[in-house]
Amino acid sequence: MTAATLDIHMTDDDLTRALRVDARRGLSASPKWLPPKWFYDARGSALFEQITELPEYYPTRTERALLQRVVGDIARVAQAEVLVELGAGSAVKTRLLLTALSAHAPLRAYVPQDVSSSALRAAADAVAAEFPGLAVHGVVSDFTDTLETLPHDGRRMIAFLGSTLGNLIPEERAGFLARIHHVLAPGEFLLLGVGLIIEPTILVPAYDDAAGITAEFNRNVLHVLNSRLRADFVPEKFRHVAVWDSANGWIEMRLEATEDMTVTVADLDLTVGFGRGEQIRTEVSAKFRVAGLDAELAHAGFATRRVWTDSDDRFALILAERR
Ligand SMILES: C[S@@+](CC[C@H](N)C(=O)[O-])C[C@H]1O[C@@H](n2cnc3c(N)ncnc32)[C@H](O)[C@@H]1O
Repeated sequence: MTAATLDIHMTDDDLTRALRVDARRGLSASPKWLPPKWFYDARGSALFEQITELPEYYPTRTERALLQRVVGDIARVAQAEVLVELGAGSAVKTRLLLTALSAHAPLRAYVPQDVSSSALRAAADAVAAEFPGLAVHGVVSDFTDTLETLPHDGRRMIAFLGSTLGNLIPEERAGFLARIHHVLAPGEFLLLGVGLIIEPTILVPAYDDAAGITAEFNRNVLHVLNSRLRADFVPEKFRHVAVWDSANGWIEMRLEATEDMTVTVADLDLTVGFGRGEQIRTEVSAKFRVAGLDAELAHAGFATRRVWTDSDDRFALILAERR
């Protein structure tokens, strides 16, 4: 068996430097906000895996069932020799794609990418063990800036599953799709797995589960600030909030201060005041209409080749070809 290799384009120091910039900007803003990538240290990645198993969290099981149904079609159309996966996480669902792609095309390599090196290392090693003969080459980087470092030695399909696309606000999403277009060659494919706009009564509990795992995941960003930047947040003093914003078509996760407090971020020499009830926006999770995303893809230079949805129209897989 060949072991997985890992390219580190974002070292621990790079992460700390980037967090310093984001924390200073976001905690000094009004309203306060932080980018969602900071949930994902080793603890945050493990909490996300727990979320995917929750009864309320329909996206993962819906996407998995959909993939199970259509991976053969995806593989036939894409004929990929290299599967690149952005924000791969544990890559559990990816096994379905890898099996189908191996059966339909000369799949040579799997390139999982993630900002969470612990999750990536575990996923890459597990896939390498399960798929002997497949070159597994992990890339630790930030998909919002360094797509140029992805390998291009064979016909590629870039998969972006788990509705992670929805964590980008529309301007970021447009830039992201344009950069994917830039790194792909004509005839290569992008596979998107996205949540669709559905009833808020189903959407909201998926981000506010009864067991409180999502709340703990949300508060993990405060633990990350404490450990990386020597902040003194007391995470228990922040309440998890998930709201459906129908105007923007996204779920917003926030952390709400339960009392007046002052927090110090020692490494930034920054003091941050919170009034009781004040919130930090920690994530948006946009939901889509297929027609809208199709138009965004066309604008970025992609032609949608196939769209599959589950029987309840909760989730879509979109296979788009780079023109
Ligand atoms: C919602 S989870 C989805 C995980 C997996 N793809 C799935 O479908 O279950 C988002 C994943 O993207 C990673 N991630 C978030 N922001 C990132 C960024 N800016 N660059 C690279 N990876 C990122 C996280 O570490 C996490 O593994």
